[in-house]
Amino acid sequence: MRRYLAAGNWKLNMGPAEAVTLARKISMGVLGMDLRGEVLVCPPFVSIPAVADVLEDSVVHCGAQTCANDAAGAHTGEVAASMLAEVGCSHVIVAHSERRTDQRESDDDFVAKIEQVHDAGLIAVFCYGEQLEDRKAGRAADVVRAHLEGVLPRLTRAKADTLVLAYEPVWAIGTGETATPDQAQEIHALSREITAGLLGPGVADRMRILYGGSVKPDNAEELFSMEDIDGGLVGGASLKADDFLGIIRGAQAAAGA
Ligand code: PGA
Repeated sequence: MRRYLAAGNWKLNMGPAEAVTLARKISMGVLGMDLRGEVLVCPPFVSIPAVADVLEDSVVHCGAQTCANDAAGAHTGEVAASMLAEVGCSHVIVAHSERRTDQRESDDDFVAKIEQVHDAGLIAVFCYGEQLEDRKAGRAADVVRAHLEGVLPRLTRAKADTLVLAYEPVWAIGTGETATPDQAQEIHALSREITAGLLGPGVADRMRILYGGSVKPDNAEELFSMEDIDGGLVGGASLKADDFLGIIRGAQAAAGA
């Protein structure tokens, strides 16, 4: 049985003061829960040290939203995975669709970043998923296959405990539109099958595959109850403690708690 991961991606929100308040509320909220999985929050870089500090004695993990392709050197504006490890991060999100679009990051970047994450001893959360026009044209499965095949075989240390996959159909991100549990399950099962071919069936069976795209307290349990959905990567609803805690309760219920 795979343990769920409920991950909050705070994106470009929550400076240090607000971030600390939100992190405190979340860590207090999970206190009484007998967690059947893991909880992660990913603040913007400048808020990470303060949040990691607040979460030091909490079961809630702190992560980052991206990292540099390189370990060090002349790369203005970048932050290395080893620096994120130093300030208390356990996970780094890589290849979010907003970075694919806004920063034009490519498979080469994702491979370099995930290798850096693994060099630093951290866990990578690798995002992938189709655009609306791909889905309408019946190409969702092809895009998912291309995203996974473009990166996974080139990784040197991709294991079930160093890599988490996050399927995020771009048309469901921040739109209020959610893939139905069946639509999501279909792509998750396909993702696991593709991963089995690339990394071996044992790794694929144990690897967590998160769903992302308008996850909310009222749809979390149903989504996370699907066989191949092992938690969620949550944007908007992770910015309010009550909503994120509601999603964690959904994950708990789906895990039989
Ligand atoms: P959303 O974002 O929950 O606001 O749709 C998800 C994500 O981008 O990770």
